[in-house]
Amino acid sequence: MTDRYQQFARSGVGRLIVSRLGLPNPAPLRRYRPGEPPLPGPALVGAAPGGRLGDAVATALKSAGIDMISEPGTANGDGPRYGGLVFDATGIANPTQLRELYTFFQPNLRALAGCGRVLVLGTPPENAATRSEAIAQRALEGFTRSVGKELRRGATVQLVYVAPGAESALESTLRFLLSARSAYVSGQVVRIGTHGAGLAEPDDWDRPLDGKVALVTGASRGIGAAIADVLARDGAHVVALDVPAQGAELSTVANRVRGSALQLDITAEDAPARLVEHLSTRHGGVDIVVHNAGITRDRKLANMKDPAWDAVLAVNLICQPVVNEALINGDVLRPNGRIIGVSSIAGIAGNTGQTNYATTKAGVIGMVNAYAPVLAGRGATINAVAPGFIETKMTAAVPLAIREVGRRMNSLAQGGLPVDVAETVAWFANPASGAVNGNVVRVCGQSLLGA
Ligand SMILES: NC(=O)c1ccc[n+]([C@@H]2O[C@H](COP(=O)([O-])OP(=O)(O)OC[C@H]3O[C@@H](n4cnc5c(N)ncnc54)[C@H](O)[C@@H]3O)[C@@H](O)[C@H]2O)c1
Repeated sequence: MTDRYQQFARSGVGRLIVSRLGLPNPAPLRRYRPGEPPLPGPALVGAAPGGRLGDAVATALKSAGIDMISEPGTANGDGPRYGGLVFDATGIANPTQLRELYTFFQPNLRALAGCGRVLVLGTPPENAATRSEAIAQRALEGFTRSVGKELRRGATVQLVYVAPGAESALESTLRFLLSARSAYVSGQVVRIGTHGAGLAEPDDWDRPLDGKVALVTGASRGIGAAIADVLARDGAHVVALDVPAQGAELSTVANRVRGSALQLDITAEDAPARLVEHLSTRHGGVDIVVHNAGITRDRKLANMKDPAWDAVLAVNLICQPVVNEALINGDVLRPNGRIIGVSSIAGIAGNTGQTNYATTKAGVIGMVNAYAPVLAGRGATINAVAPGFIETKMTAAVPLAIREVGRRMNSLAQGGLPVDVAETVAWFANPASGAVNGNVVRVCGQSLLGA
């Protein structure tokens, strides 16, 4: 879908009008292209005294091919343009020491390149050794989210809480968040835990899913098709599932990704059994399950008819735990498996006319919470993406005025692309992301909705 305003704002006359009137000026986002460096420049790395992540950060940056600078240059004027600013805040043990954030970021923020990345690393407050440390570590959230609202030119910021003992599990997350793959993810808080049983370093970081089998529901178009593309690019064999009515488009996607097509209504009573049969006999199991299929039937609750409620609940939520149970109990989900849900910011913030939809999308978050401990015990994980405004057929059907508001009301002043959601799914799917469990990460450019 085209964003005409963004095209206009980039034109000669458009640039002038946008700047005179102080209108939003969406920057072109830098997205992943093979062979390009992860960041648009070196990363400046700093730490509060006593931080415990220095070695892990240095190792991961080196492995990812990111140049690291530990001493800031002349920050203002013609100092270096940093591709990233990474700050290990795990040494901050009380609120007074939060000044370390100011000391590191205030002089260096202006030297961040367009589409640069800011990363704050902390200790989960629930794992803090003292009450003072818990308070200070929780405070990092407010800092990070505010920086996200001040950054310009497509730059993003995240907070990653790394549990004590999970230091060696940082790499896949750092590689994702310090790269063009996380173009539309900003203002997020990610938790890395210690259940590293499912942690396996890929032989080749460009094809981390080699030898894996991925099931993607709703894969014939939109976000699902992009997820199929990205998982296949990363090496997976993709089983692309959609309803029979989408058969032609489904075949196109399955052929494009050299995967296989499975025509199935995921809400059919026999769908779980058919999936178990298909995945175990044809593929010997499944490594990655992406519950992407979703529908909307918008109406204010007072005007909503039964079928609209029932259909949305059936597709977007009710069938998903049933499929999970069948795959887990039938031992079809392999060890180190990944289940990935697709929630929505509507499930976090609520939305007029979407009581049915938002119920299901909040339910997906509930599913992540409920299954995370179960899957951790098997070395597997469950996480969800919560997209904001993504340019697809679903959002093209939204009335123009509401569509424009949805597009602009975020820190990047534009809609995301299906590939942005897909890259986030691929990070969860990575075999090295075994310690990333129970997270719901919004792919919304830091939307004001549900912030
Ligand atoms: N587009 C956005 O801005 C946005 C925002 C937040 C969340 N999402 C979520 O992302 C997911 C994909 O959205 P999209 O925009 O690509 O939508 P889309 O309508 O383009 O694609 C959804 C796909 O799901 C398939 N599907 C529907 N019912 C099915 C069933 N019973 N069995 C199998 N497949 C079925 C459809 O045929 C379609 O191919 C959905 O879960 C949606 O709720 C989208």
